[in-house]
This record gives sequence, structure tokens and C-alpha cells, in this order.
Amino acid sequence: MNNILKDFKKNGVVKLKNFFTEQEIDLLSKRAEELANKKFEFLYLINKSKINGSFLSKPRFESIKNEILESCHDNELKIKSINSFVDFIQPILKKYSLKNYFIEELHAVFCENHEIHDDVLFDEVLSSVFFTDKVLNVYRELFQSDKLVYFGEGQIGNYNKPPCFGWHTDDMPNYKENTSEKTFQIRGAVFYHSEDVNSGGTKFLHGSHYYIRPSKLVKKIIKKILWNKNFNNTILNTRILLAKNYFPGRRDFILWDKRIMHSPWAVKLKKCPWLNLSPSIEKYFIQGSFPRFLAEKNSFPRSLGNLDIGRQSKALDAYVEFTSKRNDYEDNFKNKSKLLSQDFRSKLSSKNVIFNDYCIKNATT
Ligand SMILES: [Fe+2]
Repeated sequence: MNNILKDFKKNGVVKLKNFFTEQEIDLLSKRAEELANKKFEFLYLINKSKINGSFLSKPRFESIKNEILESCHDNELKIKSINSFVDFIQPILKKYSLKNYFIEELHAVFCENHEIHDDVLFDEVLSSVFFTDKVLNVYRELFQSDKLVYFGEGQIGNYNKPPCFGWHTDDMPNYKENTSEKTFQIRGAVFYHSEDVNSGGTKFLHGSHYYIRPSKLVKKIIKKILWNKNFNNTILNTRILLAKNYFPGRRDFILWDKRIMHSPWAVKLKKCPWLNLSPSIEKYFIQGSFPRFLAEKNSFPRSLGNLDIGRQSKALDAYVEFTSKRNDYEDNFKNKSKLLSQDFRSKLSSKNVIFNDYCIKNATT
């Protein structure tokens, strides 16, 4: 565990290989499928406007486009599950001798519903995987604190959401502050459909959770000297940062400081799996045929479950305040109103976890 803490402090991210058991992952993926079935009337929506707005409108796809249009019977076609979608598309691809990866491209065109909000600490089945000493002790070790805070960001989340790219941080307000404050919130993620031999992991910029640009550091030093402004930095945080790809297997647990810069996709090249490409280049491996053959196939389906946990700190409060105002998070927190019960609070406190209900209360009142 000591090495894990050391790596985490230095890089801002750590991967725990085969952390979850086979049974836990089976339980998780079955429950996610059940919840998706319950929540959505369908996962895929196929209609004329989607077809015409996609790559299918190119002349070389004319026949396949017409065949899919015909299946809509002048209206639309709704498909309930990933398997039924594959069963629908695969014979069409075969008929027109198109490569199998077009399933993923068509998935991105027609996937309509993928966001599941069920809470991983509230749902009985999900919490049997996430609300365990095994999981919570990892956070305790990384924070070096026994007392944990849960603020409602833990869900089975993205159920086979089409891939997206680009550098971002999960904690913009604190990333912008550029302090060297030790980690106060962590996202733990499990890609319960993925295989580590495939493309489709996540790219992290090691050390960026603490990074500060030299020019900004100088400004902060001057402000500190002249006006005694807040300064919580070490000059070591101006080091050169290197990006590293993480390719999770379905049982792995990846944990990162939410300030770290990352891109939610990583391409694994066949000849040099260690090579790290920029997200702006990687997009060519996902859309279109070239140079797709150089890369390992994509994990498909690819889904994410996450549990975000913090420790008590002003920086965490600032994050919660910021997040409570985010319109794109409102639905998620609204759907969690059932967490506002004494039972749930007691459940969390039985394992020394404090419930910060600010975002949920804010969204529901
Ligand atoms: Fe992210």
C-alpha cells in the first residue's frame, strides 16, 4: 500500500490491478444492464435525421443508408439493448463487406440513452460492491485520513457512452487555483466492460494535479510579498509533465485526484503500445478507417462506474459549491433526492463517512 500512496502523490493517479473480484464485476454489469432496462424504453433511436446527419450520407454508403432507412418504415426504429443493436447492424455490415468497427461508428450515431443516475452507495446491489471496507480503505490510505466525505457523485454513470476526447480536469475551480494542497477529493473508476489489451482507456497528465506554470508561480510569489496573498505552492510543481495512457481491465480500479488533467480515451498502438498520442491525433483512429489498422481494437462496449470521495477541507467545499450550480449536473442530483433520508445518513456514518448533501438539496429545492 505504501508504494501506491507514493505513486499517487507523485502522479495524481494510480491503477489497482484486478482489485475487484470476478463476482463483483459480474454483479455490477448485470445490475447496470437491469437499471438501463428499467430506466430507458430504448438505448438506440434510428431515424432519417440521424442517418442524414451522419457519415452515412456520403455517396459510398448509399446502399447501407437505404437499407437502414427501410428498417425505420418511414418513421423511426427503437432498439432496446446493445446486443439487439449489434444483431441488427452486423448482418448489414456483412452484406456490404464493411469492417466490424463500423458497429462502433454506428453506435455513436444512433445511441440515444446512456446516462444512469443510480447511486453506487444507495442502491443495494451496487453498494455491496462499492460500500465495503476494501474500497473505502483505499480512499483512507490515499487521503491518509479515516474520516471520509461523500457528496453524491457516485453512479454507475455512463452505460456505453460513445467516446469523446480532449484534455480536461474534473475539478476546474481548484485546478485554476494552482495550489499544492494535498489531495482532498478522488474519483475511483471501474470500466466494467473493458479489456486492457484493447484501446479505450484514459490518458492522464502525470503530476498536473499540482502543476503551476512558472509565469503564474512568479506572479503568486510577487502577490504574496506585496500584498500577503494566499500562497500554497512549492516551486517543484513547475516540472515537465508527461502524459501516460492507462488501459484498464474490467476488474481494475483507477483512482485519480480530480484536479488532474486527463482525456477520456486512449489509443493503444499495436507496434508500440507505450506510445502516447495527442487526443487531436487519436480522433483519426476512432473516426474513419485510416490509420485504424495500426491500433488495437476498441473496447466495445465501454462503460464507467465511479465513486467520488473527499476528505473535509475548504477546497472540497469550494468544489461542492461550484458543482451545485452546474446545470449539466442538476438532473443527476435531482435523481438522488432519495438519498436525503436518515437511513442513508446512518448507513454512511456506520463506516465513518460524512454525507455532504449540499448539491442534492440545492437541486431538489
Ligand atoms: Fe473526466
